Amino acid sequence: MRSMELARAAFKAVRDCARLKAGENVLVVADSIVDRALVDAFANAACALGGETQVMIFETRPEINREPPKAVAAALAAADLVLDLIQQYIIHTSAYWRARDGGTRILCGTGITEDMLIRLVGDVDYDELVRVGDRLVAIFSAGTECRVETGDGDVLTMTLTGRPQVLRDGLLEGPGDLDYMPGAQLSSAPIEESINGTITVDGSAYPPVGAVGEAIRVTYREGRVVAVEGGPAGARWYEWLAHFNDPKMFCVAHISVGMNPAARLTGNILEDERLVGCFVLGHGSQMPHFKGKLGRASSHTDLVAVRPRILVDGQVVAEAGQFRV
Ligand SMILES: [Fe+2]
Repeated sequence: MRSMELARAAFKAVRDCARLKAGENVLVVADSIVDRALVDAFANAACALGGETQVMIFETRPEINREPPKAVAAALAAADLVLDLIQQYIIHTSAYWRARDGGTRILCGTGITEDMLIRLVGDVDYDELVRVGDRLVAIFSAGTECRVETGDGDVLTMTLTGRPQVLRDGLLEGPGDLDYMPGAQLSSAPIEESINGTITVDGSAYPPVGAVGEAIRVTYREGRVVAVEGGPAGARWYEWLAHFNDPKMFCVAHISVGMNPAARLTGNILEDERLVGCFVLGHGSQMPHFKGKLGRASSHTDLVAVRPRILVDGQVVAEAGQFRV
């Protein structure tokens, strides 16, 4: 275990990303599957920075987005700052939304590992991340059409107009704010009925798959999945969507572009969806800040295309895993 590097990275995350102020009530929360060294590193950092620090660990749930135990829900709502390490994440639960509505700010590190914390937070220049993020926000905010080219001639297009561009740079701003460790991603909800075409997904599909191995092709009509082709990963992903019997699970909830220079394809969605220049399609539950039409659904799943060509109004923004802006 790289205990010193871990301590330094956790300290940076709590001080610079979560922006803990001395005297705040801090909850470090995890499920039982999470490495206790990681939990301790965050608790120790919060304590060293003057937080009134509490740790809660609850039994790992069989699936994501199950409501946490009542005591955890109450603690989430009571805290000024939550350092969330829960692996079977609860970001689309009522407990989470209530806590945020009440002013709790949350740094969510669901799925993060010791190695990822050191590489993707501890060793990354967050100031540069923010600079890249701000450039992308300007381009996507001013843009009308986003076009994504993948695979062997697949094209997916969508209209951006009128929807907020949400930069998750990994830094918490104020009460009720939510951001993720590691940073960073730019996300938005394109106009639903404008999302048409096909994308080759060569990175991840999670849940339930992880790294897809053999690429899958997903076709959309007016923002809904209408066909999934290719390999066992495609079949598994489609069956998982269908088993909810919830039409919203087939709908695009958000798009995202990743921008962490240290990220590599690992099969862990948290890292994969932050690959520089990747394109993410989220389906199902939609956070209210996207101002989309979808709202809450039974669950949520993301697809990652690793090295697409992304254009906004004809301008190449990213290509082959690099930004062109
Ligand atoms: Fe997502």
